[in-house]
Amino acid sequence: MRYGHFDDVRREYVITRPDTPLPWINYLGSEDYFGIISNTAGGYSFYRDARLRRLTRYRYNNAPLDLGGRYVYLRDDASGDYWSPSWQPTQRDLDDYTCRHGLGYSIISSRYQGIRAETLYFVPAGETLEVWRVRVTNERAVPATLSLFSSVEFCLWDAQDDATNFQRNYSVGEVEVEDGVIYHKTEYRERRNHFAFFACSEPLAGFDTQRDAFLGPYRSWDRPIGVERGFASNSIAHGWQPSGSHHVRLELRPGETREIVFLLGYAENPADAKFDPPGSQTIDKRRVRPTIARYLQPDVVADAFEALQSRWTDLLGICRAETGNEHVDRMVNIWNPYQCMVTFNMSRSASLFESGIGRGMGFRDTSQDLLGFVHLVPARARERLLDVASTQLPTGGAYHQYQPLTKRGNNDVGSGFNDDPAWLVVSVAAYLKETGDSSILDEALPFDNQPGTERPLYEHLQRSIQYTLDRLGPHGLPLIGRADWNDCLNLNCFSETPGESFQTTENRSGGVAESVFIAALFVLAAGELAAIAGLRGDAAEAARSLAAASEMRRAVDQHGWDGAWFRRAYDFFGRPVGSAENDEGQIFIEPQGMCVLAGIGIDDGRARTALDSVRERLATPHGIVLLQPAFTRYHLHLGEISTYPGGYKENAGVFCHTNPWVMIGETRVRNGDAALDCYLRINPSAREDLSETHRGEPYVYAQMIAGADAATPGEAKNTWLTGTAAWNFVAISQWILGIRPEHDGLRIDPCVPVAWGDFTATRRFRGATYRIAVRKRPGTSGCVTRLRVDGRTIEGNLVPLPSSTEAVIEVEAFVDAPVEDVVEATP
Ligand code: BGC
Ligand code: NOJ
Repeated sequence: MRYGHFDDVRREYVITRPDTPLPWINYLGSEDYFGIISNTAGGYSFYRDARLRRLTRYRYNNAPLDLGGRYVYLRDDASGDYWSPSWQPTQRDLDDYTCRHGLGYSIISSRYQGIRAETLYFVPAGETLEVWRVRVTNERAVPATLSLFSSVEFCLWDAQDDATNFQRNYSVGEVEVEDGVIYHKTEYRERRNHFAFFACSEPLAGFDTQRDAFLGPYRSWDRPIGVERGFASNSIAHGWQPSGSHHVRLELRPGETREIVFLLGYAENPADAKFDPPGSQTIDKRRVRPTIARYLQPDVVADAFEALQSRWTDLLGICRAETGNEHVDRMVNIWNPYQCMVTFNMSRSASLFESGIGRGMGFRDTSQDLLGFVHLVPARARERLLDVASTQLPTGGAYHQYQPLTKRGNNDVGSGFNDDPAWLVVSVAAYLKETGDSSILDEALPFDNQPGTERPLYEHLQRSIQYTLDRLGPHGLPLIGRADWNDCLNLNCFSETPGESFQTTENRSGGVAESVFIAALFVLAAGELAAIAGLRGDAAEAARSLAAASEMRRAVDQHGWDGAWFRRAYDFFGRPVGSAENDEGQIFIEPQGMCVLAGIGIDDGRARTALDSVRERLATPHGIVLLQPAFTRYHLHLGEISTYPGGYKENAGVFCHTNPWVMIGETRVRNGDAALDCYLRINPSAREDLSETHRGEPYVYAQMIAGADAATPGEAKNTWLTGTAAWNFVAISQWILGIRPEHDGLRIDPCVPVAWGDFTATRRFRGATYRIAVRKRPGTSGCVTRLRVDGRTIEGNLVPLPSSTEAVIEVEAFVDAPVEDVVEATP
């Protein structure tokens, strides 16, 4: 069953009933001001940091799950009946309802008793405010007398403190109201020089700024007293819960539409010019007034909305494909890049599964996210790489995360996750392939942000590689440290104390537990460093890295192979993990994906064997689960992974992030059918018909889909902020469709199902636009043998870099080998 449909032309998902299985959210903003918004207008807003500069309050894990947000209310002043056009919170039976989630905006519209209301929510580019444009139409045959109320609940800035420190916070709240604009200025009197504003384009009949005055004691957002009785009480908040609500009266003729704009925004004043007049305690509003006045004008709002849409048209033009498979096309062309941009902006901070007060930016998460957005915003990717690399430790190791506001590493979730440094090499390589901007390698960056320690980024990469080499275990495999990519495989933790953090606890450190996954990642990263060194003419480093990679391959050959798949690790006692020898957790997905992706086992058949084992033992209709058999009890020596009930999260859930590694692996052994099949199982659009089972948004990937061992197989959780977005984009666009940026050109190397025919794609790359036509008869293999570039034939599948004068390059890629040839040619 579905709860809506895709509108690919408008690039929207259109939800047609409000009671989706879970709140289905979207994001507003893409620079400094952000918000999350659900299909019933729930959610919150913040400036830059979801924890430290939270504008509006949101209670997570509420009942219902999603309550509190950007609600407007309409009241029929003749009958006294009132409703929320976004369904929540009043939950009236609306005659119709749609929520259009688009790229950076949402439009919620409905009709109730002959009154249509449509609210557009978005953040104009370059501004630190959000617009709510409400259009109310009287579709009745008679005039309508209506009241419109807005509402927000302010957060007292630090969301963590706001949710805990009530003995203070109930006394500090302050607001000002001037010319109908509500200013929230809690703590402005002291060390803050920022405030929030909430404005309305219409003359007000009244306002409220004290939550209890608006809602009434013992009432909630579903029946505010102000709305029920039809007038506001002009309350001024002193302490308690500052909120904002405007009351506007509307007289509408039959057929008449009125447009009302509300603005919610964030503003700062210089620390020495906070007050007007100086010496008073009144906010100096001279800087913010012009901005407010501007965006209260309908044509300014319309232009800003159009600008937002053209920006996305431009971004989405960078990489497009028309394959004829709607699930592939709409993810590649619309939703996957959008999700990548959101993960870039948010890291893992704010979603319905991430509370905004938890984690900073992960070192490995950020590095992997970059793979999905580097083609969209290369300049911001560059900046992000410099930030991340500047937090690297002198050993080459990493803090596991850093704070976006300070850009400093923090130890809250520890360090010593031994895979972290290698990801930096992988992401810098992706940046270089996309842009060719080798100047980044010479950027002098500090270690641990310490002035005086600056060394070129190139050296940071060398130290990343050295970090692994300095930490090899008894089998010559990398020590796992606190954990590797799998945060829950904690081989040195041995935690027996309730509540102790698996992320920071290391109760025993034997220097023995090793990771086959890091070994494979190392092979990949060392290969990338060798290529980078080659480009710089540093033959010695290239040779050293290649030799280290070969040595690591040998260690994997000797100690990482279990007979029919790659082992996962060696534990604290030197015993294999992810082996047929184990009772539970015999096979893990990560080393199968990463080893084959890194090229291990391709020449001797083990890659195919490992992937066959994945298909036999781990594949389910809902994607490939992380391991089998699931752990049925807590294993002290394995850690958090065995704390989850079977089928969830790292304990045999479909941890979607890992699936694209297998897809890429399948393309490396030229099995396009298996690669695409694997992709479609976790592709949200392809799962749209399963919405009642899947439950998450059908337009974005989930971090986790419950596995076969779960009570709810196929149920998605942790949608939006997941490395799945970046890796799926890489797998589908670069390896399955095969349009892959490389240092010396654009590789055209599709590995698609045998039954596929021709398809086309467009890629902007290094300043030129490549118009690519893949000429493939159904039944052929997917290997390009010949290219025609602007009419000239080239052997092989690499389109050379454009000369500076070429703006548009026509590429025809011929796939003419019959299937049998390739099957024979591949061991
Ligand atoms: C989750 C992991 C996550 C880790 C760190 C664990 O509880 O299962 O997916 O990476 O926490 O936040
Ligand atoms: C989510 C974390 O953000 C990521 O860093 C980690 O690799 C996965 N969980 C797997 O544990």
